[in-house]
Amino acid sequence: MALTVTVTGATGFIATELVKQLLEKGYDVRGTVRSLKKEEKVAHLKALDAALPGNLTLHEADLLEEGSFDEVVKGADYVFHTASPFFMGDSPDAQKDLVDPAVKGTTTVLRSVAKSKGSVKRVVLTSSVAAIMKMKKGPLKGKVFTDQDWNDENTVSDGPYMYSKTEAEKAARALAEKEGFEIATIHPAFVMGPVIAARADATSIVTMKGFIEHGEYSFFPWHCDVRDIARAHILAAEVPLATGRYIVAQPPVPTSYLSKVLSERFPQFKFPAGKEDDSSETSYDTSKVEKELGLRMHPLKETYVDMATTLIQRGIAKPVAKLLPRPAGSVGLECPTKELG
Ligand SMILES: NC(=O)c1ccc[n+]([C@@H]2O[C@H](COP(=O)([O-])OP(=O)(O)OC[C@H]3O[C@@H](n4cnc5c(N)ncnc54)[C@H](OP(=O)(O)O)[C@@H]3O)[C@@H](O)[C@H]2O)c1
Repeated sequence: MALTVTVTGATGFIATELVKQLLEKGYDVRGTVRSLKKEEKVAHLKALDAALPGNLTLHEADLLEEGSFDEVVKGADYVFHTASPFFMGDSPDAQKDLVDPAVKGTTTVLRSVAKSKGSVKRVVLTSSVAAIMKMKKGPLKGKVFTDQDWNDENTVSDGPYMYSKTEAEKAARALAEKEGFEIATIHPAFVMGPVIAARADATSIVTMKGFIEHGEYSFFPWHCDVRDIARAHILAAEVPLATGRYIVAQPPVPTSYLSKVLSERFPQFKFPAGKEDDSSETSYDTSKVEKELGLRMHPLKETYVDMATTLIQRGIAKPVAKLLPRPAGSVGLECPTKELG
């Protein structure tokens, strides 16, 4: 019989890929969403359900409503808690917009797990390298962050997203210990890779779209592939004794590398040059996810190209066309795509 899993925040960039991989493996997936009324947010999930072997049902649940997840967690074998706001910019009320949904939301979901711990074999929480790295004193030359590091330097008013991830993980681990259920945490660097949904509001997508369109962009130099993150979640559930903190991150690269990769793959488009010097001198030790979970990561080049390809194909990102020389024998320049105008 197929195992049953719950995925919170099923509409998200990472969760959508997770749902896809779970359905490919034949799981019965219960996905939670804030509202079932927004068809445009769930249409891609319904399409995955129709196309893949597993079975998906969607359920409304609210991170800030105690007991909201009781039914959707009841009887599940694994619970993947991915739902949490992810944005780095300013917020007029970071406690309400970021910290409460992350920390109280995690507690809400895990209290429902505690009520159903007879069936739930393990919880896998989407944490972040934000809960691990410390950057306030600037990049620490040569520092390699490991799963032993905790970021305890941010506050609700200074780095609220980072703070929300540390506090959510601390709350989750404390509750798991108190209630006696297993938990594993996945710590992605900035997540890139192919998009499935047509929506464009996830921070990862906004960032890559910004780069492709020559707009404003701000990049962390540590990246990873959404397919590897989803796979890491599933391995962390399935592999016996996998109850650690698993970092998934590639070595840092400057944005000039992204520019080079995209320019090679899409010679008809013009990309910003990027910067040579914005790669940090800190990095992450990913040996644990490789050894304990057996994860093999996609090369970054593939991650970038697949993300850009899907964004352009879906019309989410509109790159600027280059003026290309006419073929031999013709005169002047020609416009390779309509966008050039
Ligand atoms: N993307 C990255 O680079 C990255 C890196 C490290 C860690 N993470 C972590 O990965 C997780 C998913 O991120 P993502 O990139 O996939 O982001 P995303 O596409 O913005 O997805 C976030 C999900 O959380 C849900 N959510 C947000 N605020 C909520 C609230 N107040 N109540 C209920 N649900 C809420 C969203 O629901 P709606 O669809 O209703 O908005 C959405 O399903 C987060 O925990 C994030 O911290 C992301």
